Amino acid sequence: MQNKTVIITGASGGFGKTFTKAFLEGGYHVVATIRDKAKKSVLLEGLTPKEAENLSFALLDVADEESVNNFGSFVQGLERVDVLINNAGFAVAGFAEELSTAEYQFQLETNLLGVMRVTNHILPKMRQKGSGRIINISSISGLIGFPGLSPYVSSKYALEGYSESLRLELKEFGVDVVLIEPGSFQTNIWSSGTHMSSNAGNSNSPYLEMFKGMNKRLQKDRESYGDPVEVAKLIWKIAEMKKTPTLRYTVGKGVRFSLLAKRLLPWRVWEKIVLSQIRNKD
Ligand SMILES: NC(=O)c1ccc[n+]([C@@H]2O[C@H](COP(=O)([O-])OP(=O)(O)OC[C@H]3O[C@@H](n4cnc5c(N)ncnc54)[C@H](OP(=O)(O)O)[C@@H]3O)[C@@H](O)[C@H]2O)c1
Repeated sequence: MQNKTVIITGASGGFGKTFTKAFLEGGYHVVATIRDKAKKSVLLEGLTPKEAENLSFALLDVADEESVNNFGSFVQGLERVDVLINNAGFAVAGFAEELSTAEYQFQLETNLLGVMRVTNHILPKMRQKGSGRIINISSISGLIGFPGLSPYVSSKYALEGYSESLRLELKEFGVDVVLIEPGSFQTNIWSSGTHMSSNAGNSNSPYLEMFKGMNKRLQKDRESYGDPVEVAKLIWKIAEMKKTPTLRYTVGKGVRFSLLAKRLLPWRVWEKIVLSQIRNKD
């Protein structure tokens, strides 16, 4: 029988690359999806010959219907799919008043509709087998709103709702849907993975001070962001768990504390705390 198979979207770097390594080390057949063939070499770096043998690549842009359909045909040829990790994602940043609906659409095409497109191609296989785990990489931004990030936050909140409903639909077919809600980790999302609205930071923007405050906060906190290996260990544990995993898993420094504070504090106090974090104190 063939090794257990995991599909990891957006595997070219960041979390996806770390998850790929972890599942290869665990003996899985990994289907790593990338958008650019040139990124293959990044994933092959440092692998043992056995691990390299267990790694397959598929080209996939989750925001592109045709690309996902081609990927769907590739999936049909796989002997088995045990785990799907919907990881591909990026962030659109900017202030709501200065963002176009096209920029929101651009965000949702990948972070929300991309997950739906890919999942629908994998589901028949898992449902017919009567088992499988779909692990959706959400974020603390799927549970807490942040200023300057409404496209990203909206996409992750929507992903949470989609996953919660999907989980209930698939329960009787033996397919588990799980949400991972990481805090801040050291990946490329903070640089190449963020699309800043063209209006953000304009000298005549009413949100300029908030924009500066956010950037300062980002620079200050960056060093303390977590190691993606911590998230990979959690995902590995969930993939291999004998009992049914629960729906939500938070991971990262301060995440649980923030969620508890948001739940327990009066909203007025909570919003003061959030806004004080990004106040531009020149
Ligand atoms: N890092 C964090 O602190 C953090 C926290 C919470 C949640 N997350 C979530 O973690 C996931 C992975 O992000 P990351 O932090 O690892 O960032 P990253 O290092 O920027 O990696 C993002 C990955 O997604 C791929 N991707 C982006 N758009 C895609 C599309 N349309 N189709 C296919 N692949 C696409 C990128 O491919 P290319 O190389 O081709 O661009 C890259 O492989 C995202 O869903 C993100 O929202 C991250």
